[in-house]
Amino acid sequence: MGGAFLPLGALWALLTVPGLLFAARTARSNIILFLADDQDLEIGGMTPMKKTQSLIGELGATFANAFAVTPLCCPSRSSLLTGCYPHNHLVRNNSLEGNCSSPVWQRFQEPFTFPVYLQKKGYQTFYAGKYLNQYGDAKAGGVLHVPPGWNYWMGLVGNSKYYNYSLSVNGHEEKHGDLYEEDYLTDLITNRSLMFLQKLSRAPFLMVLAPPAAHSPWIASPLYQSAYSTVKAPRNGSFNVHGKDKHWLIRQAKNPMSNTSIEFLDNVYRQRWRTLLSVDDMVERVLRQLKSLDLLGSTYVFYTSDHGYHTGQFSLPIDKRQLYEFDIRVPLLVRGPGIKPNQTYLEPILNIDLGPTFLDIAGINVSLTPMDGQSFLPLLENRIHVNGWRSDFLVQYTGEGCSGKDPHCPSLGPGVSQCFPDCVCEDAFNNTYACVRTLSPINLQYCEFADAQDFVEVYNLTSDPHQLINVAKTVDPSLLEQMNQRLIKFQACAGPSCRS
Ligand SMILES: *[C@@H]1O[C@H](CO)[C@@H](O)[C@H](O)[C@H]1NC(C)=O
Ligand SMILES: *[C@@H]1O[C@H](CO)[C@@H](O)[C@H](O)[C@H]1NC(C)=O
Ligand SMILES: *[C@@H]1O[C@H](CO)[C@@H](O)[C@H](O)[C@H]1NC(C)=O
Ligand SMILES: *[C@@H]1O[C@H](CO)[C@@H](O)[C@H](O)[C@H]1NC(C)=O
Ligand SMILES: *[C@@H]1O[C@H](CO)[C@@H](O)[C@H](O)[C@H]1NC(C)=O
Ligand SMILES: *[C@@H]1O[C@H](CO)[C@@H](O)[C@H](O)[C@H]1NC(C)=O
Ligand SMILES: *[C@@H]1O[C@H](CO)[C@@H](O)[C@H](O)[C@H]1NC(C)=O
Ligand SMILES: *[C@@H]1O[C@H](CO)[C@@H](O)[C@H](O)[C@H]1NC(C)=O
Ligand SMILES: *[C@@H]1O[C@H](CO)[C@@H](O)[C@H](O)[C@H]1NC(C)=O
Ligand SMILES: *[C@@H]1O[C@H](CO)[C@@H](O)[C@H](O)[C@H]1NC(C)=O
Repeated sequence: MGGAFLPLGALWALLTVPGLLFAARTARSNIILFLADDQDLEIGGMTPMKKTQSLIGELGATFANAFAVTPLCCPSRSSLLTGCYPHNHLVRNNSLEGNCSSPVWQRFQEPFTFPVYLQKKGYQTFYAGKYLNQYGDAKAGGVLHVPPGWNYWMGLVGNSKYYNYSLSVNGHEEKHGDLYEEDYLTDLITNRSLMFLQKLSRAPFLMVLAPPAAHSPWIASPLYQSAYSTVKAPRNGSFNVHGKDKHWLIRQAKNPMSNTSIEFLDNVYRQRWRTLLSVDDMVERVLRQLKSLDLLGSTYVFYTSDHGYHTGQFSLPIDKRQLYEFDIRVPLLVRGPGIKPNQTYLEPILNIDLGPTFLDIAGINVSLTPMDGQSFLPLLENRIHVNGWRSDFLVQYTGEGCSGKDPHCPSLGPGVSQCFPDCVCEDAFNNTYACVRTLSPINLQYCEFADAQDFVEVYNLTSDPHQLINVAKTVDPSLLEQMNQRLIKFQACAGPSCRS
């Protein structure tokens, strides 16, 4: 970890390859995706990522308007892998019954994930880290199930963990305890990636590195356990604001939040940042390895997260699963052949566009696949006009609930979930919604709920960037009609019709 302490200036000198970095793409360009977990963009989630921002963002492109099409781990990761909206991949939630890594997913969707296409095209493929929350479950093939498309597989069994976990290493279970030097998962992923690059890779290769950070249980490396000791969750925007004109789930949040809830979320906020420092080291060490192997100039490097997060927004303590910007926006940084430094793009990019972009880099025609997303390689290479890009997209979410009552919150009825702390619920079966998010010519979000009220929320992001005022009842009804029609079209789209 020696390099973790180099000043940024020295890092740049080390990792810039004049001439080479901006070289043209070839059909044999390598691809690396860093996929963080629960890392927000809106509430400061990229602040700890100083090295990542300079080594990828400043030496390449930053997408200021990148979104997940659904704000929950398993459905979102399934979208990223398949390039499809949830209504086409049918992964609804984090459970097997909701198709998270289920046998039917393995049979009908997994064979069409992006690594499968790249592998067929001659790419050598490597995956390390969290995959889908139910991966490795005995009812879905256990660790013996190695998802198609991966030559080197090191998938985490189950949801995020930092210690005491099992991996499937090419179909064999590898158990880990809680010794920092041997088991800290973020560092283990880094070390195995360096080894792959050193010993096993030959061009072209695809690597996906999916650390557990910044997901719970938020265990930082001992190097960083006391970092950010005075940091608190930001108090701006919608922090501790009661969403009084929003759907019932938001309205049930206690406002103002209790001091214990605020202390709890401040603590989580700090812990999240601490876990991310090891991810920042991962990015630096992997790029350093590429440099030493002379691969920097021929490798695209992407950095993103599966969805956003909130800590106190609209008085919801901590979680994701909501339609608001803090939960659906994600960081997205890219460097690679032909990409000029310090570029900022404002076009909306979706997690379903990553697969198509990887295929495009490899010279595979995305139109011949079931993917709904579209390649943004032409944007990176300045080959298309800004007005040729999409201006709106679909966000879909199916709420998770518990059929019984929560024993800790006897006053709550059935159907809710994630009710902690203070019995404020973050989710419910009827927190099921679909939205059209338009960025231009108007900057608007229109959402319909599948609940007993057919609740509608509409936000004018131009006048109200923090979504404080639901204008559903005051906006021009013809605009509502138009958005409703657009939503109906989107919810039935597939492949090319999702792109038009
Ligand atoms: C609130 O403050 C944080 C930290 O300073 C900043 O990253 C974020 O962009 C701000 N958000 C809003 C909604 O103004
Ligand atoms: C799970 O996927 C299968 C086929 O892919 C589909 O028939 C089923 O309806 C899906 N389940 C849910 C809950 O959407
Ligand atoms: C790992 O498991 C051991 C044995 O169950 C337990 O004692 C230890 O506290 C666990 N470590 C962590 C970090 O959870
Ligand atoms: C990763 O490698 C570093 C440097 O070789 C070593 O110090 C560290 O203990 C390793 N960590 C894990 C979890 O393998
Ligand atoms: C909560 O914190 C505020 C600000 O720190 C303080 O003024 C107030 O007295 C505290 N309330 C309780 C019930 O502890
Ligand atoms: C990118 O922008 C930063 C801040 O403006 C600047 O310091 C840096 O030199 C630029 N980097 C490159 C590679 O142009
Ligand atoms: C990709 O496939 C589509 C559908 O078959 C075809 O119309 C298009 O010309 C192809 N594009 C390229 C670049 O080959
Ligand atoms: C996930 O979706 C399935 C299928 O709709 C449903 O049976 C299950 O209750 C859902 N799980 C949760 C936690 O909501
Ligand atoms: C949503 O479900 C909860 C219980 O899970 C119920 O209390 C609430 O009234 C429902 N709201 C709507 C608008 O359907
Ligand atoms: C949104 O707000 C802007 C700025 O106040 C205003 O110009 C625009 O007309 C509003 N859009 C709608 C659809 O109400």
